[in-house]
Amino acid sequence: MNVFTTRKSLNEALAPLKEAKKSVGFVPTMGALHEGHLALVKRALTESDCVVVSIFVNPTQFNNMQDLDKYPRMLQADVDLLNSIGEVLVFAPTVEEVYPENDAYSPLDLDGIDQVMEGEFRPGHFQGVVHVVRNLFQIVQPTHAYFGLKDFQQVAVIRLLTKKYNFPIQLIACPTLRETSGLAMSSRNLRLTESERKDALIIFQTLKFIQTLKASKSPKEVKELAMEYFSAGKLRLEYLEIVDGSSLKALDAAWSEYSVVCIAAYCGAVRLIDNLELV
Ligand code: PAF
Repeated sequence: MNVFTTRKSLNEALAPLKEAKKSVGFVPTMGALHEGHLALVKRALTESDCVVVSIFVNPTQFNNMQDLDKYPRMLQADVDLLNSIGEVLVFAPTVEEVYPENDAYSPLDLDGIDQVMEGEFRPGHFQGVVHVVRNLFQIVQPTHAYFGLKDFQQVAVIRLLTKKYNFPIQLIACPTLRETSGLAMSSRNLRLTESERKDALIIFQTLKFIQTLKASKSPKEVKELAMEYFSAGKLRLEYLEIVDGSSLKALDAAWSEYSVVCIAAYCGAVRLIDNLELV
């Protein structure tokens, strides 16, 4: 498998494909790949002439240095996994390649959607995501980019950044992959003990509980009942918000056409997020 560590070598490999007007699918990741990532890559492989997967643990999106240090890094295992599903170009750059000295970046106004939920509890996180995704989009110049809906708010932020920077890229948001237990797949699950994996199920159970109440109660009422339901488990809740899926504004008396519930909670030392579109 081709692993490129510099933007120059990646661009040289992509140049003939771009000249031939081939489509380039891009799957940005921070590595520690799991089935959820592989589903994005498989989809990209079926929809694009060539696929680039970036593996880069982006320091600017971590507001907690311990979290950055503990983030699993396993490049060779990731490359082997990718090898097992098809032909992709892996971009595994250094920090200096992604953030060169002449990199001009000023924070992008994200119309407030970066301030709520994840943004409230992880100040600066989304500016870090926007910065790295902007730089990666500029390097790879894909025609299509694939993101998982587990990071629901991130997808909304990246949609806005694509629009604001006028990137001619089609964004494809892919459904969350779950283990049979219901636990959303995440690289962070690697840090959970067996008993924590069981404790973590309260997140998906709460999401489903909310779904059952939607027809008969208001978002405000549902939120109160859901907080109580969640508190019977062992996790420490950071937020549980029922929002309009487009504006990310909290819903109170009435449901919107596109209502989504988002949860962030600590399972031991591991912070987990999940969400469900309420139908
Ligand atoms: O979702 C992720 O893994 C990261 O936030 C991303 C999009 C690769 C940017 O570092």
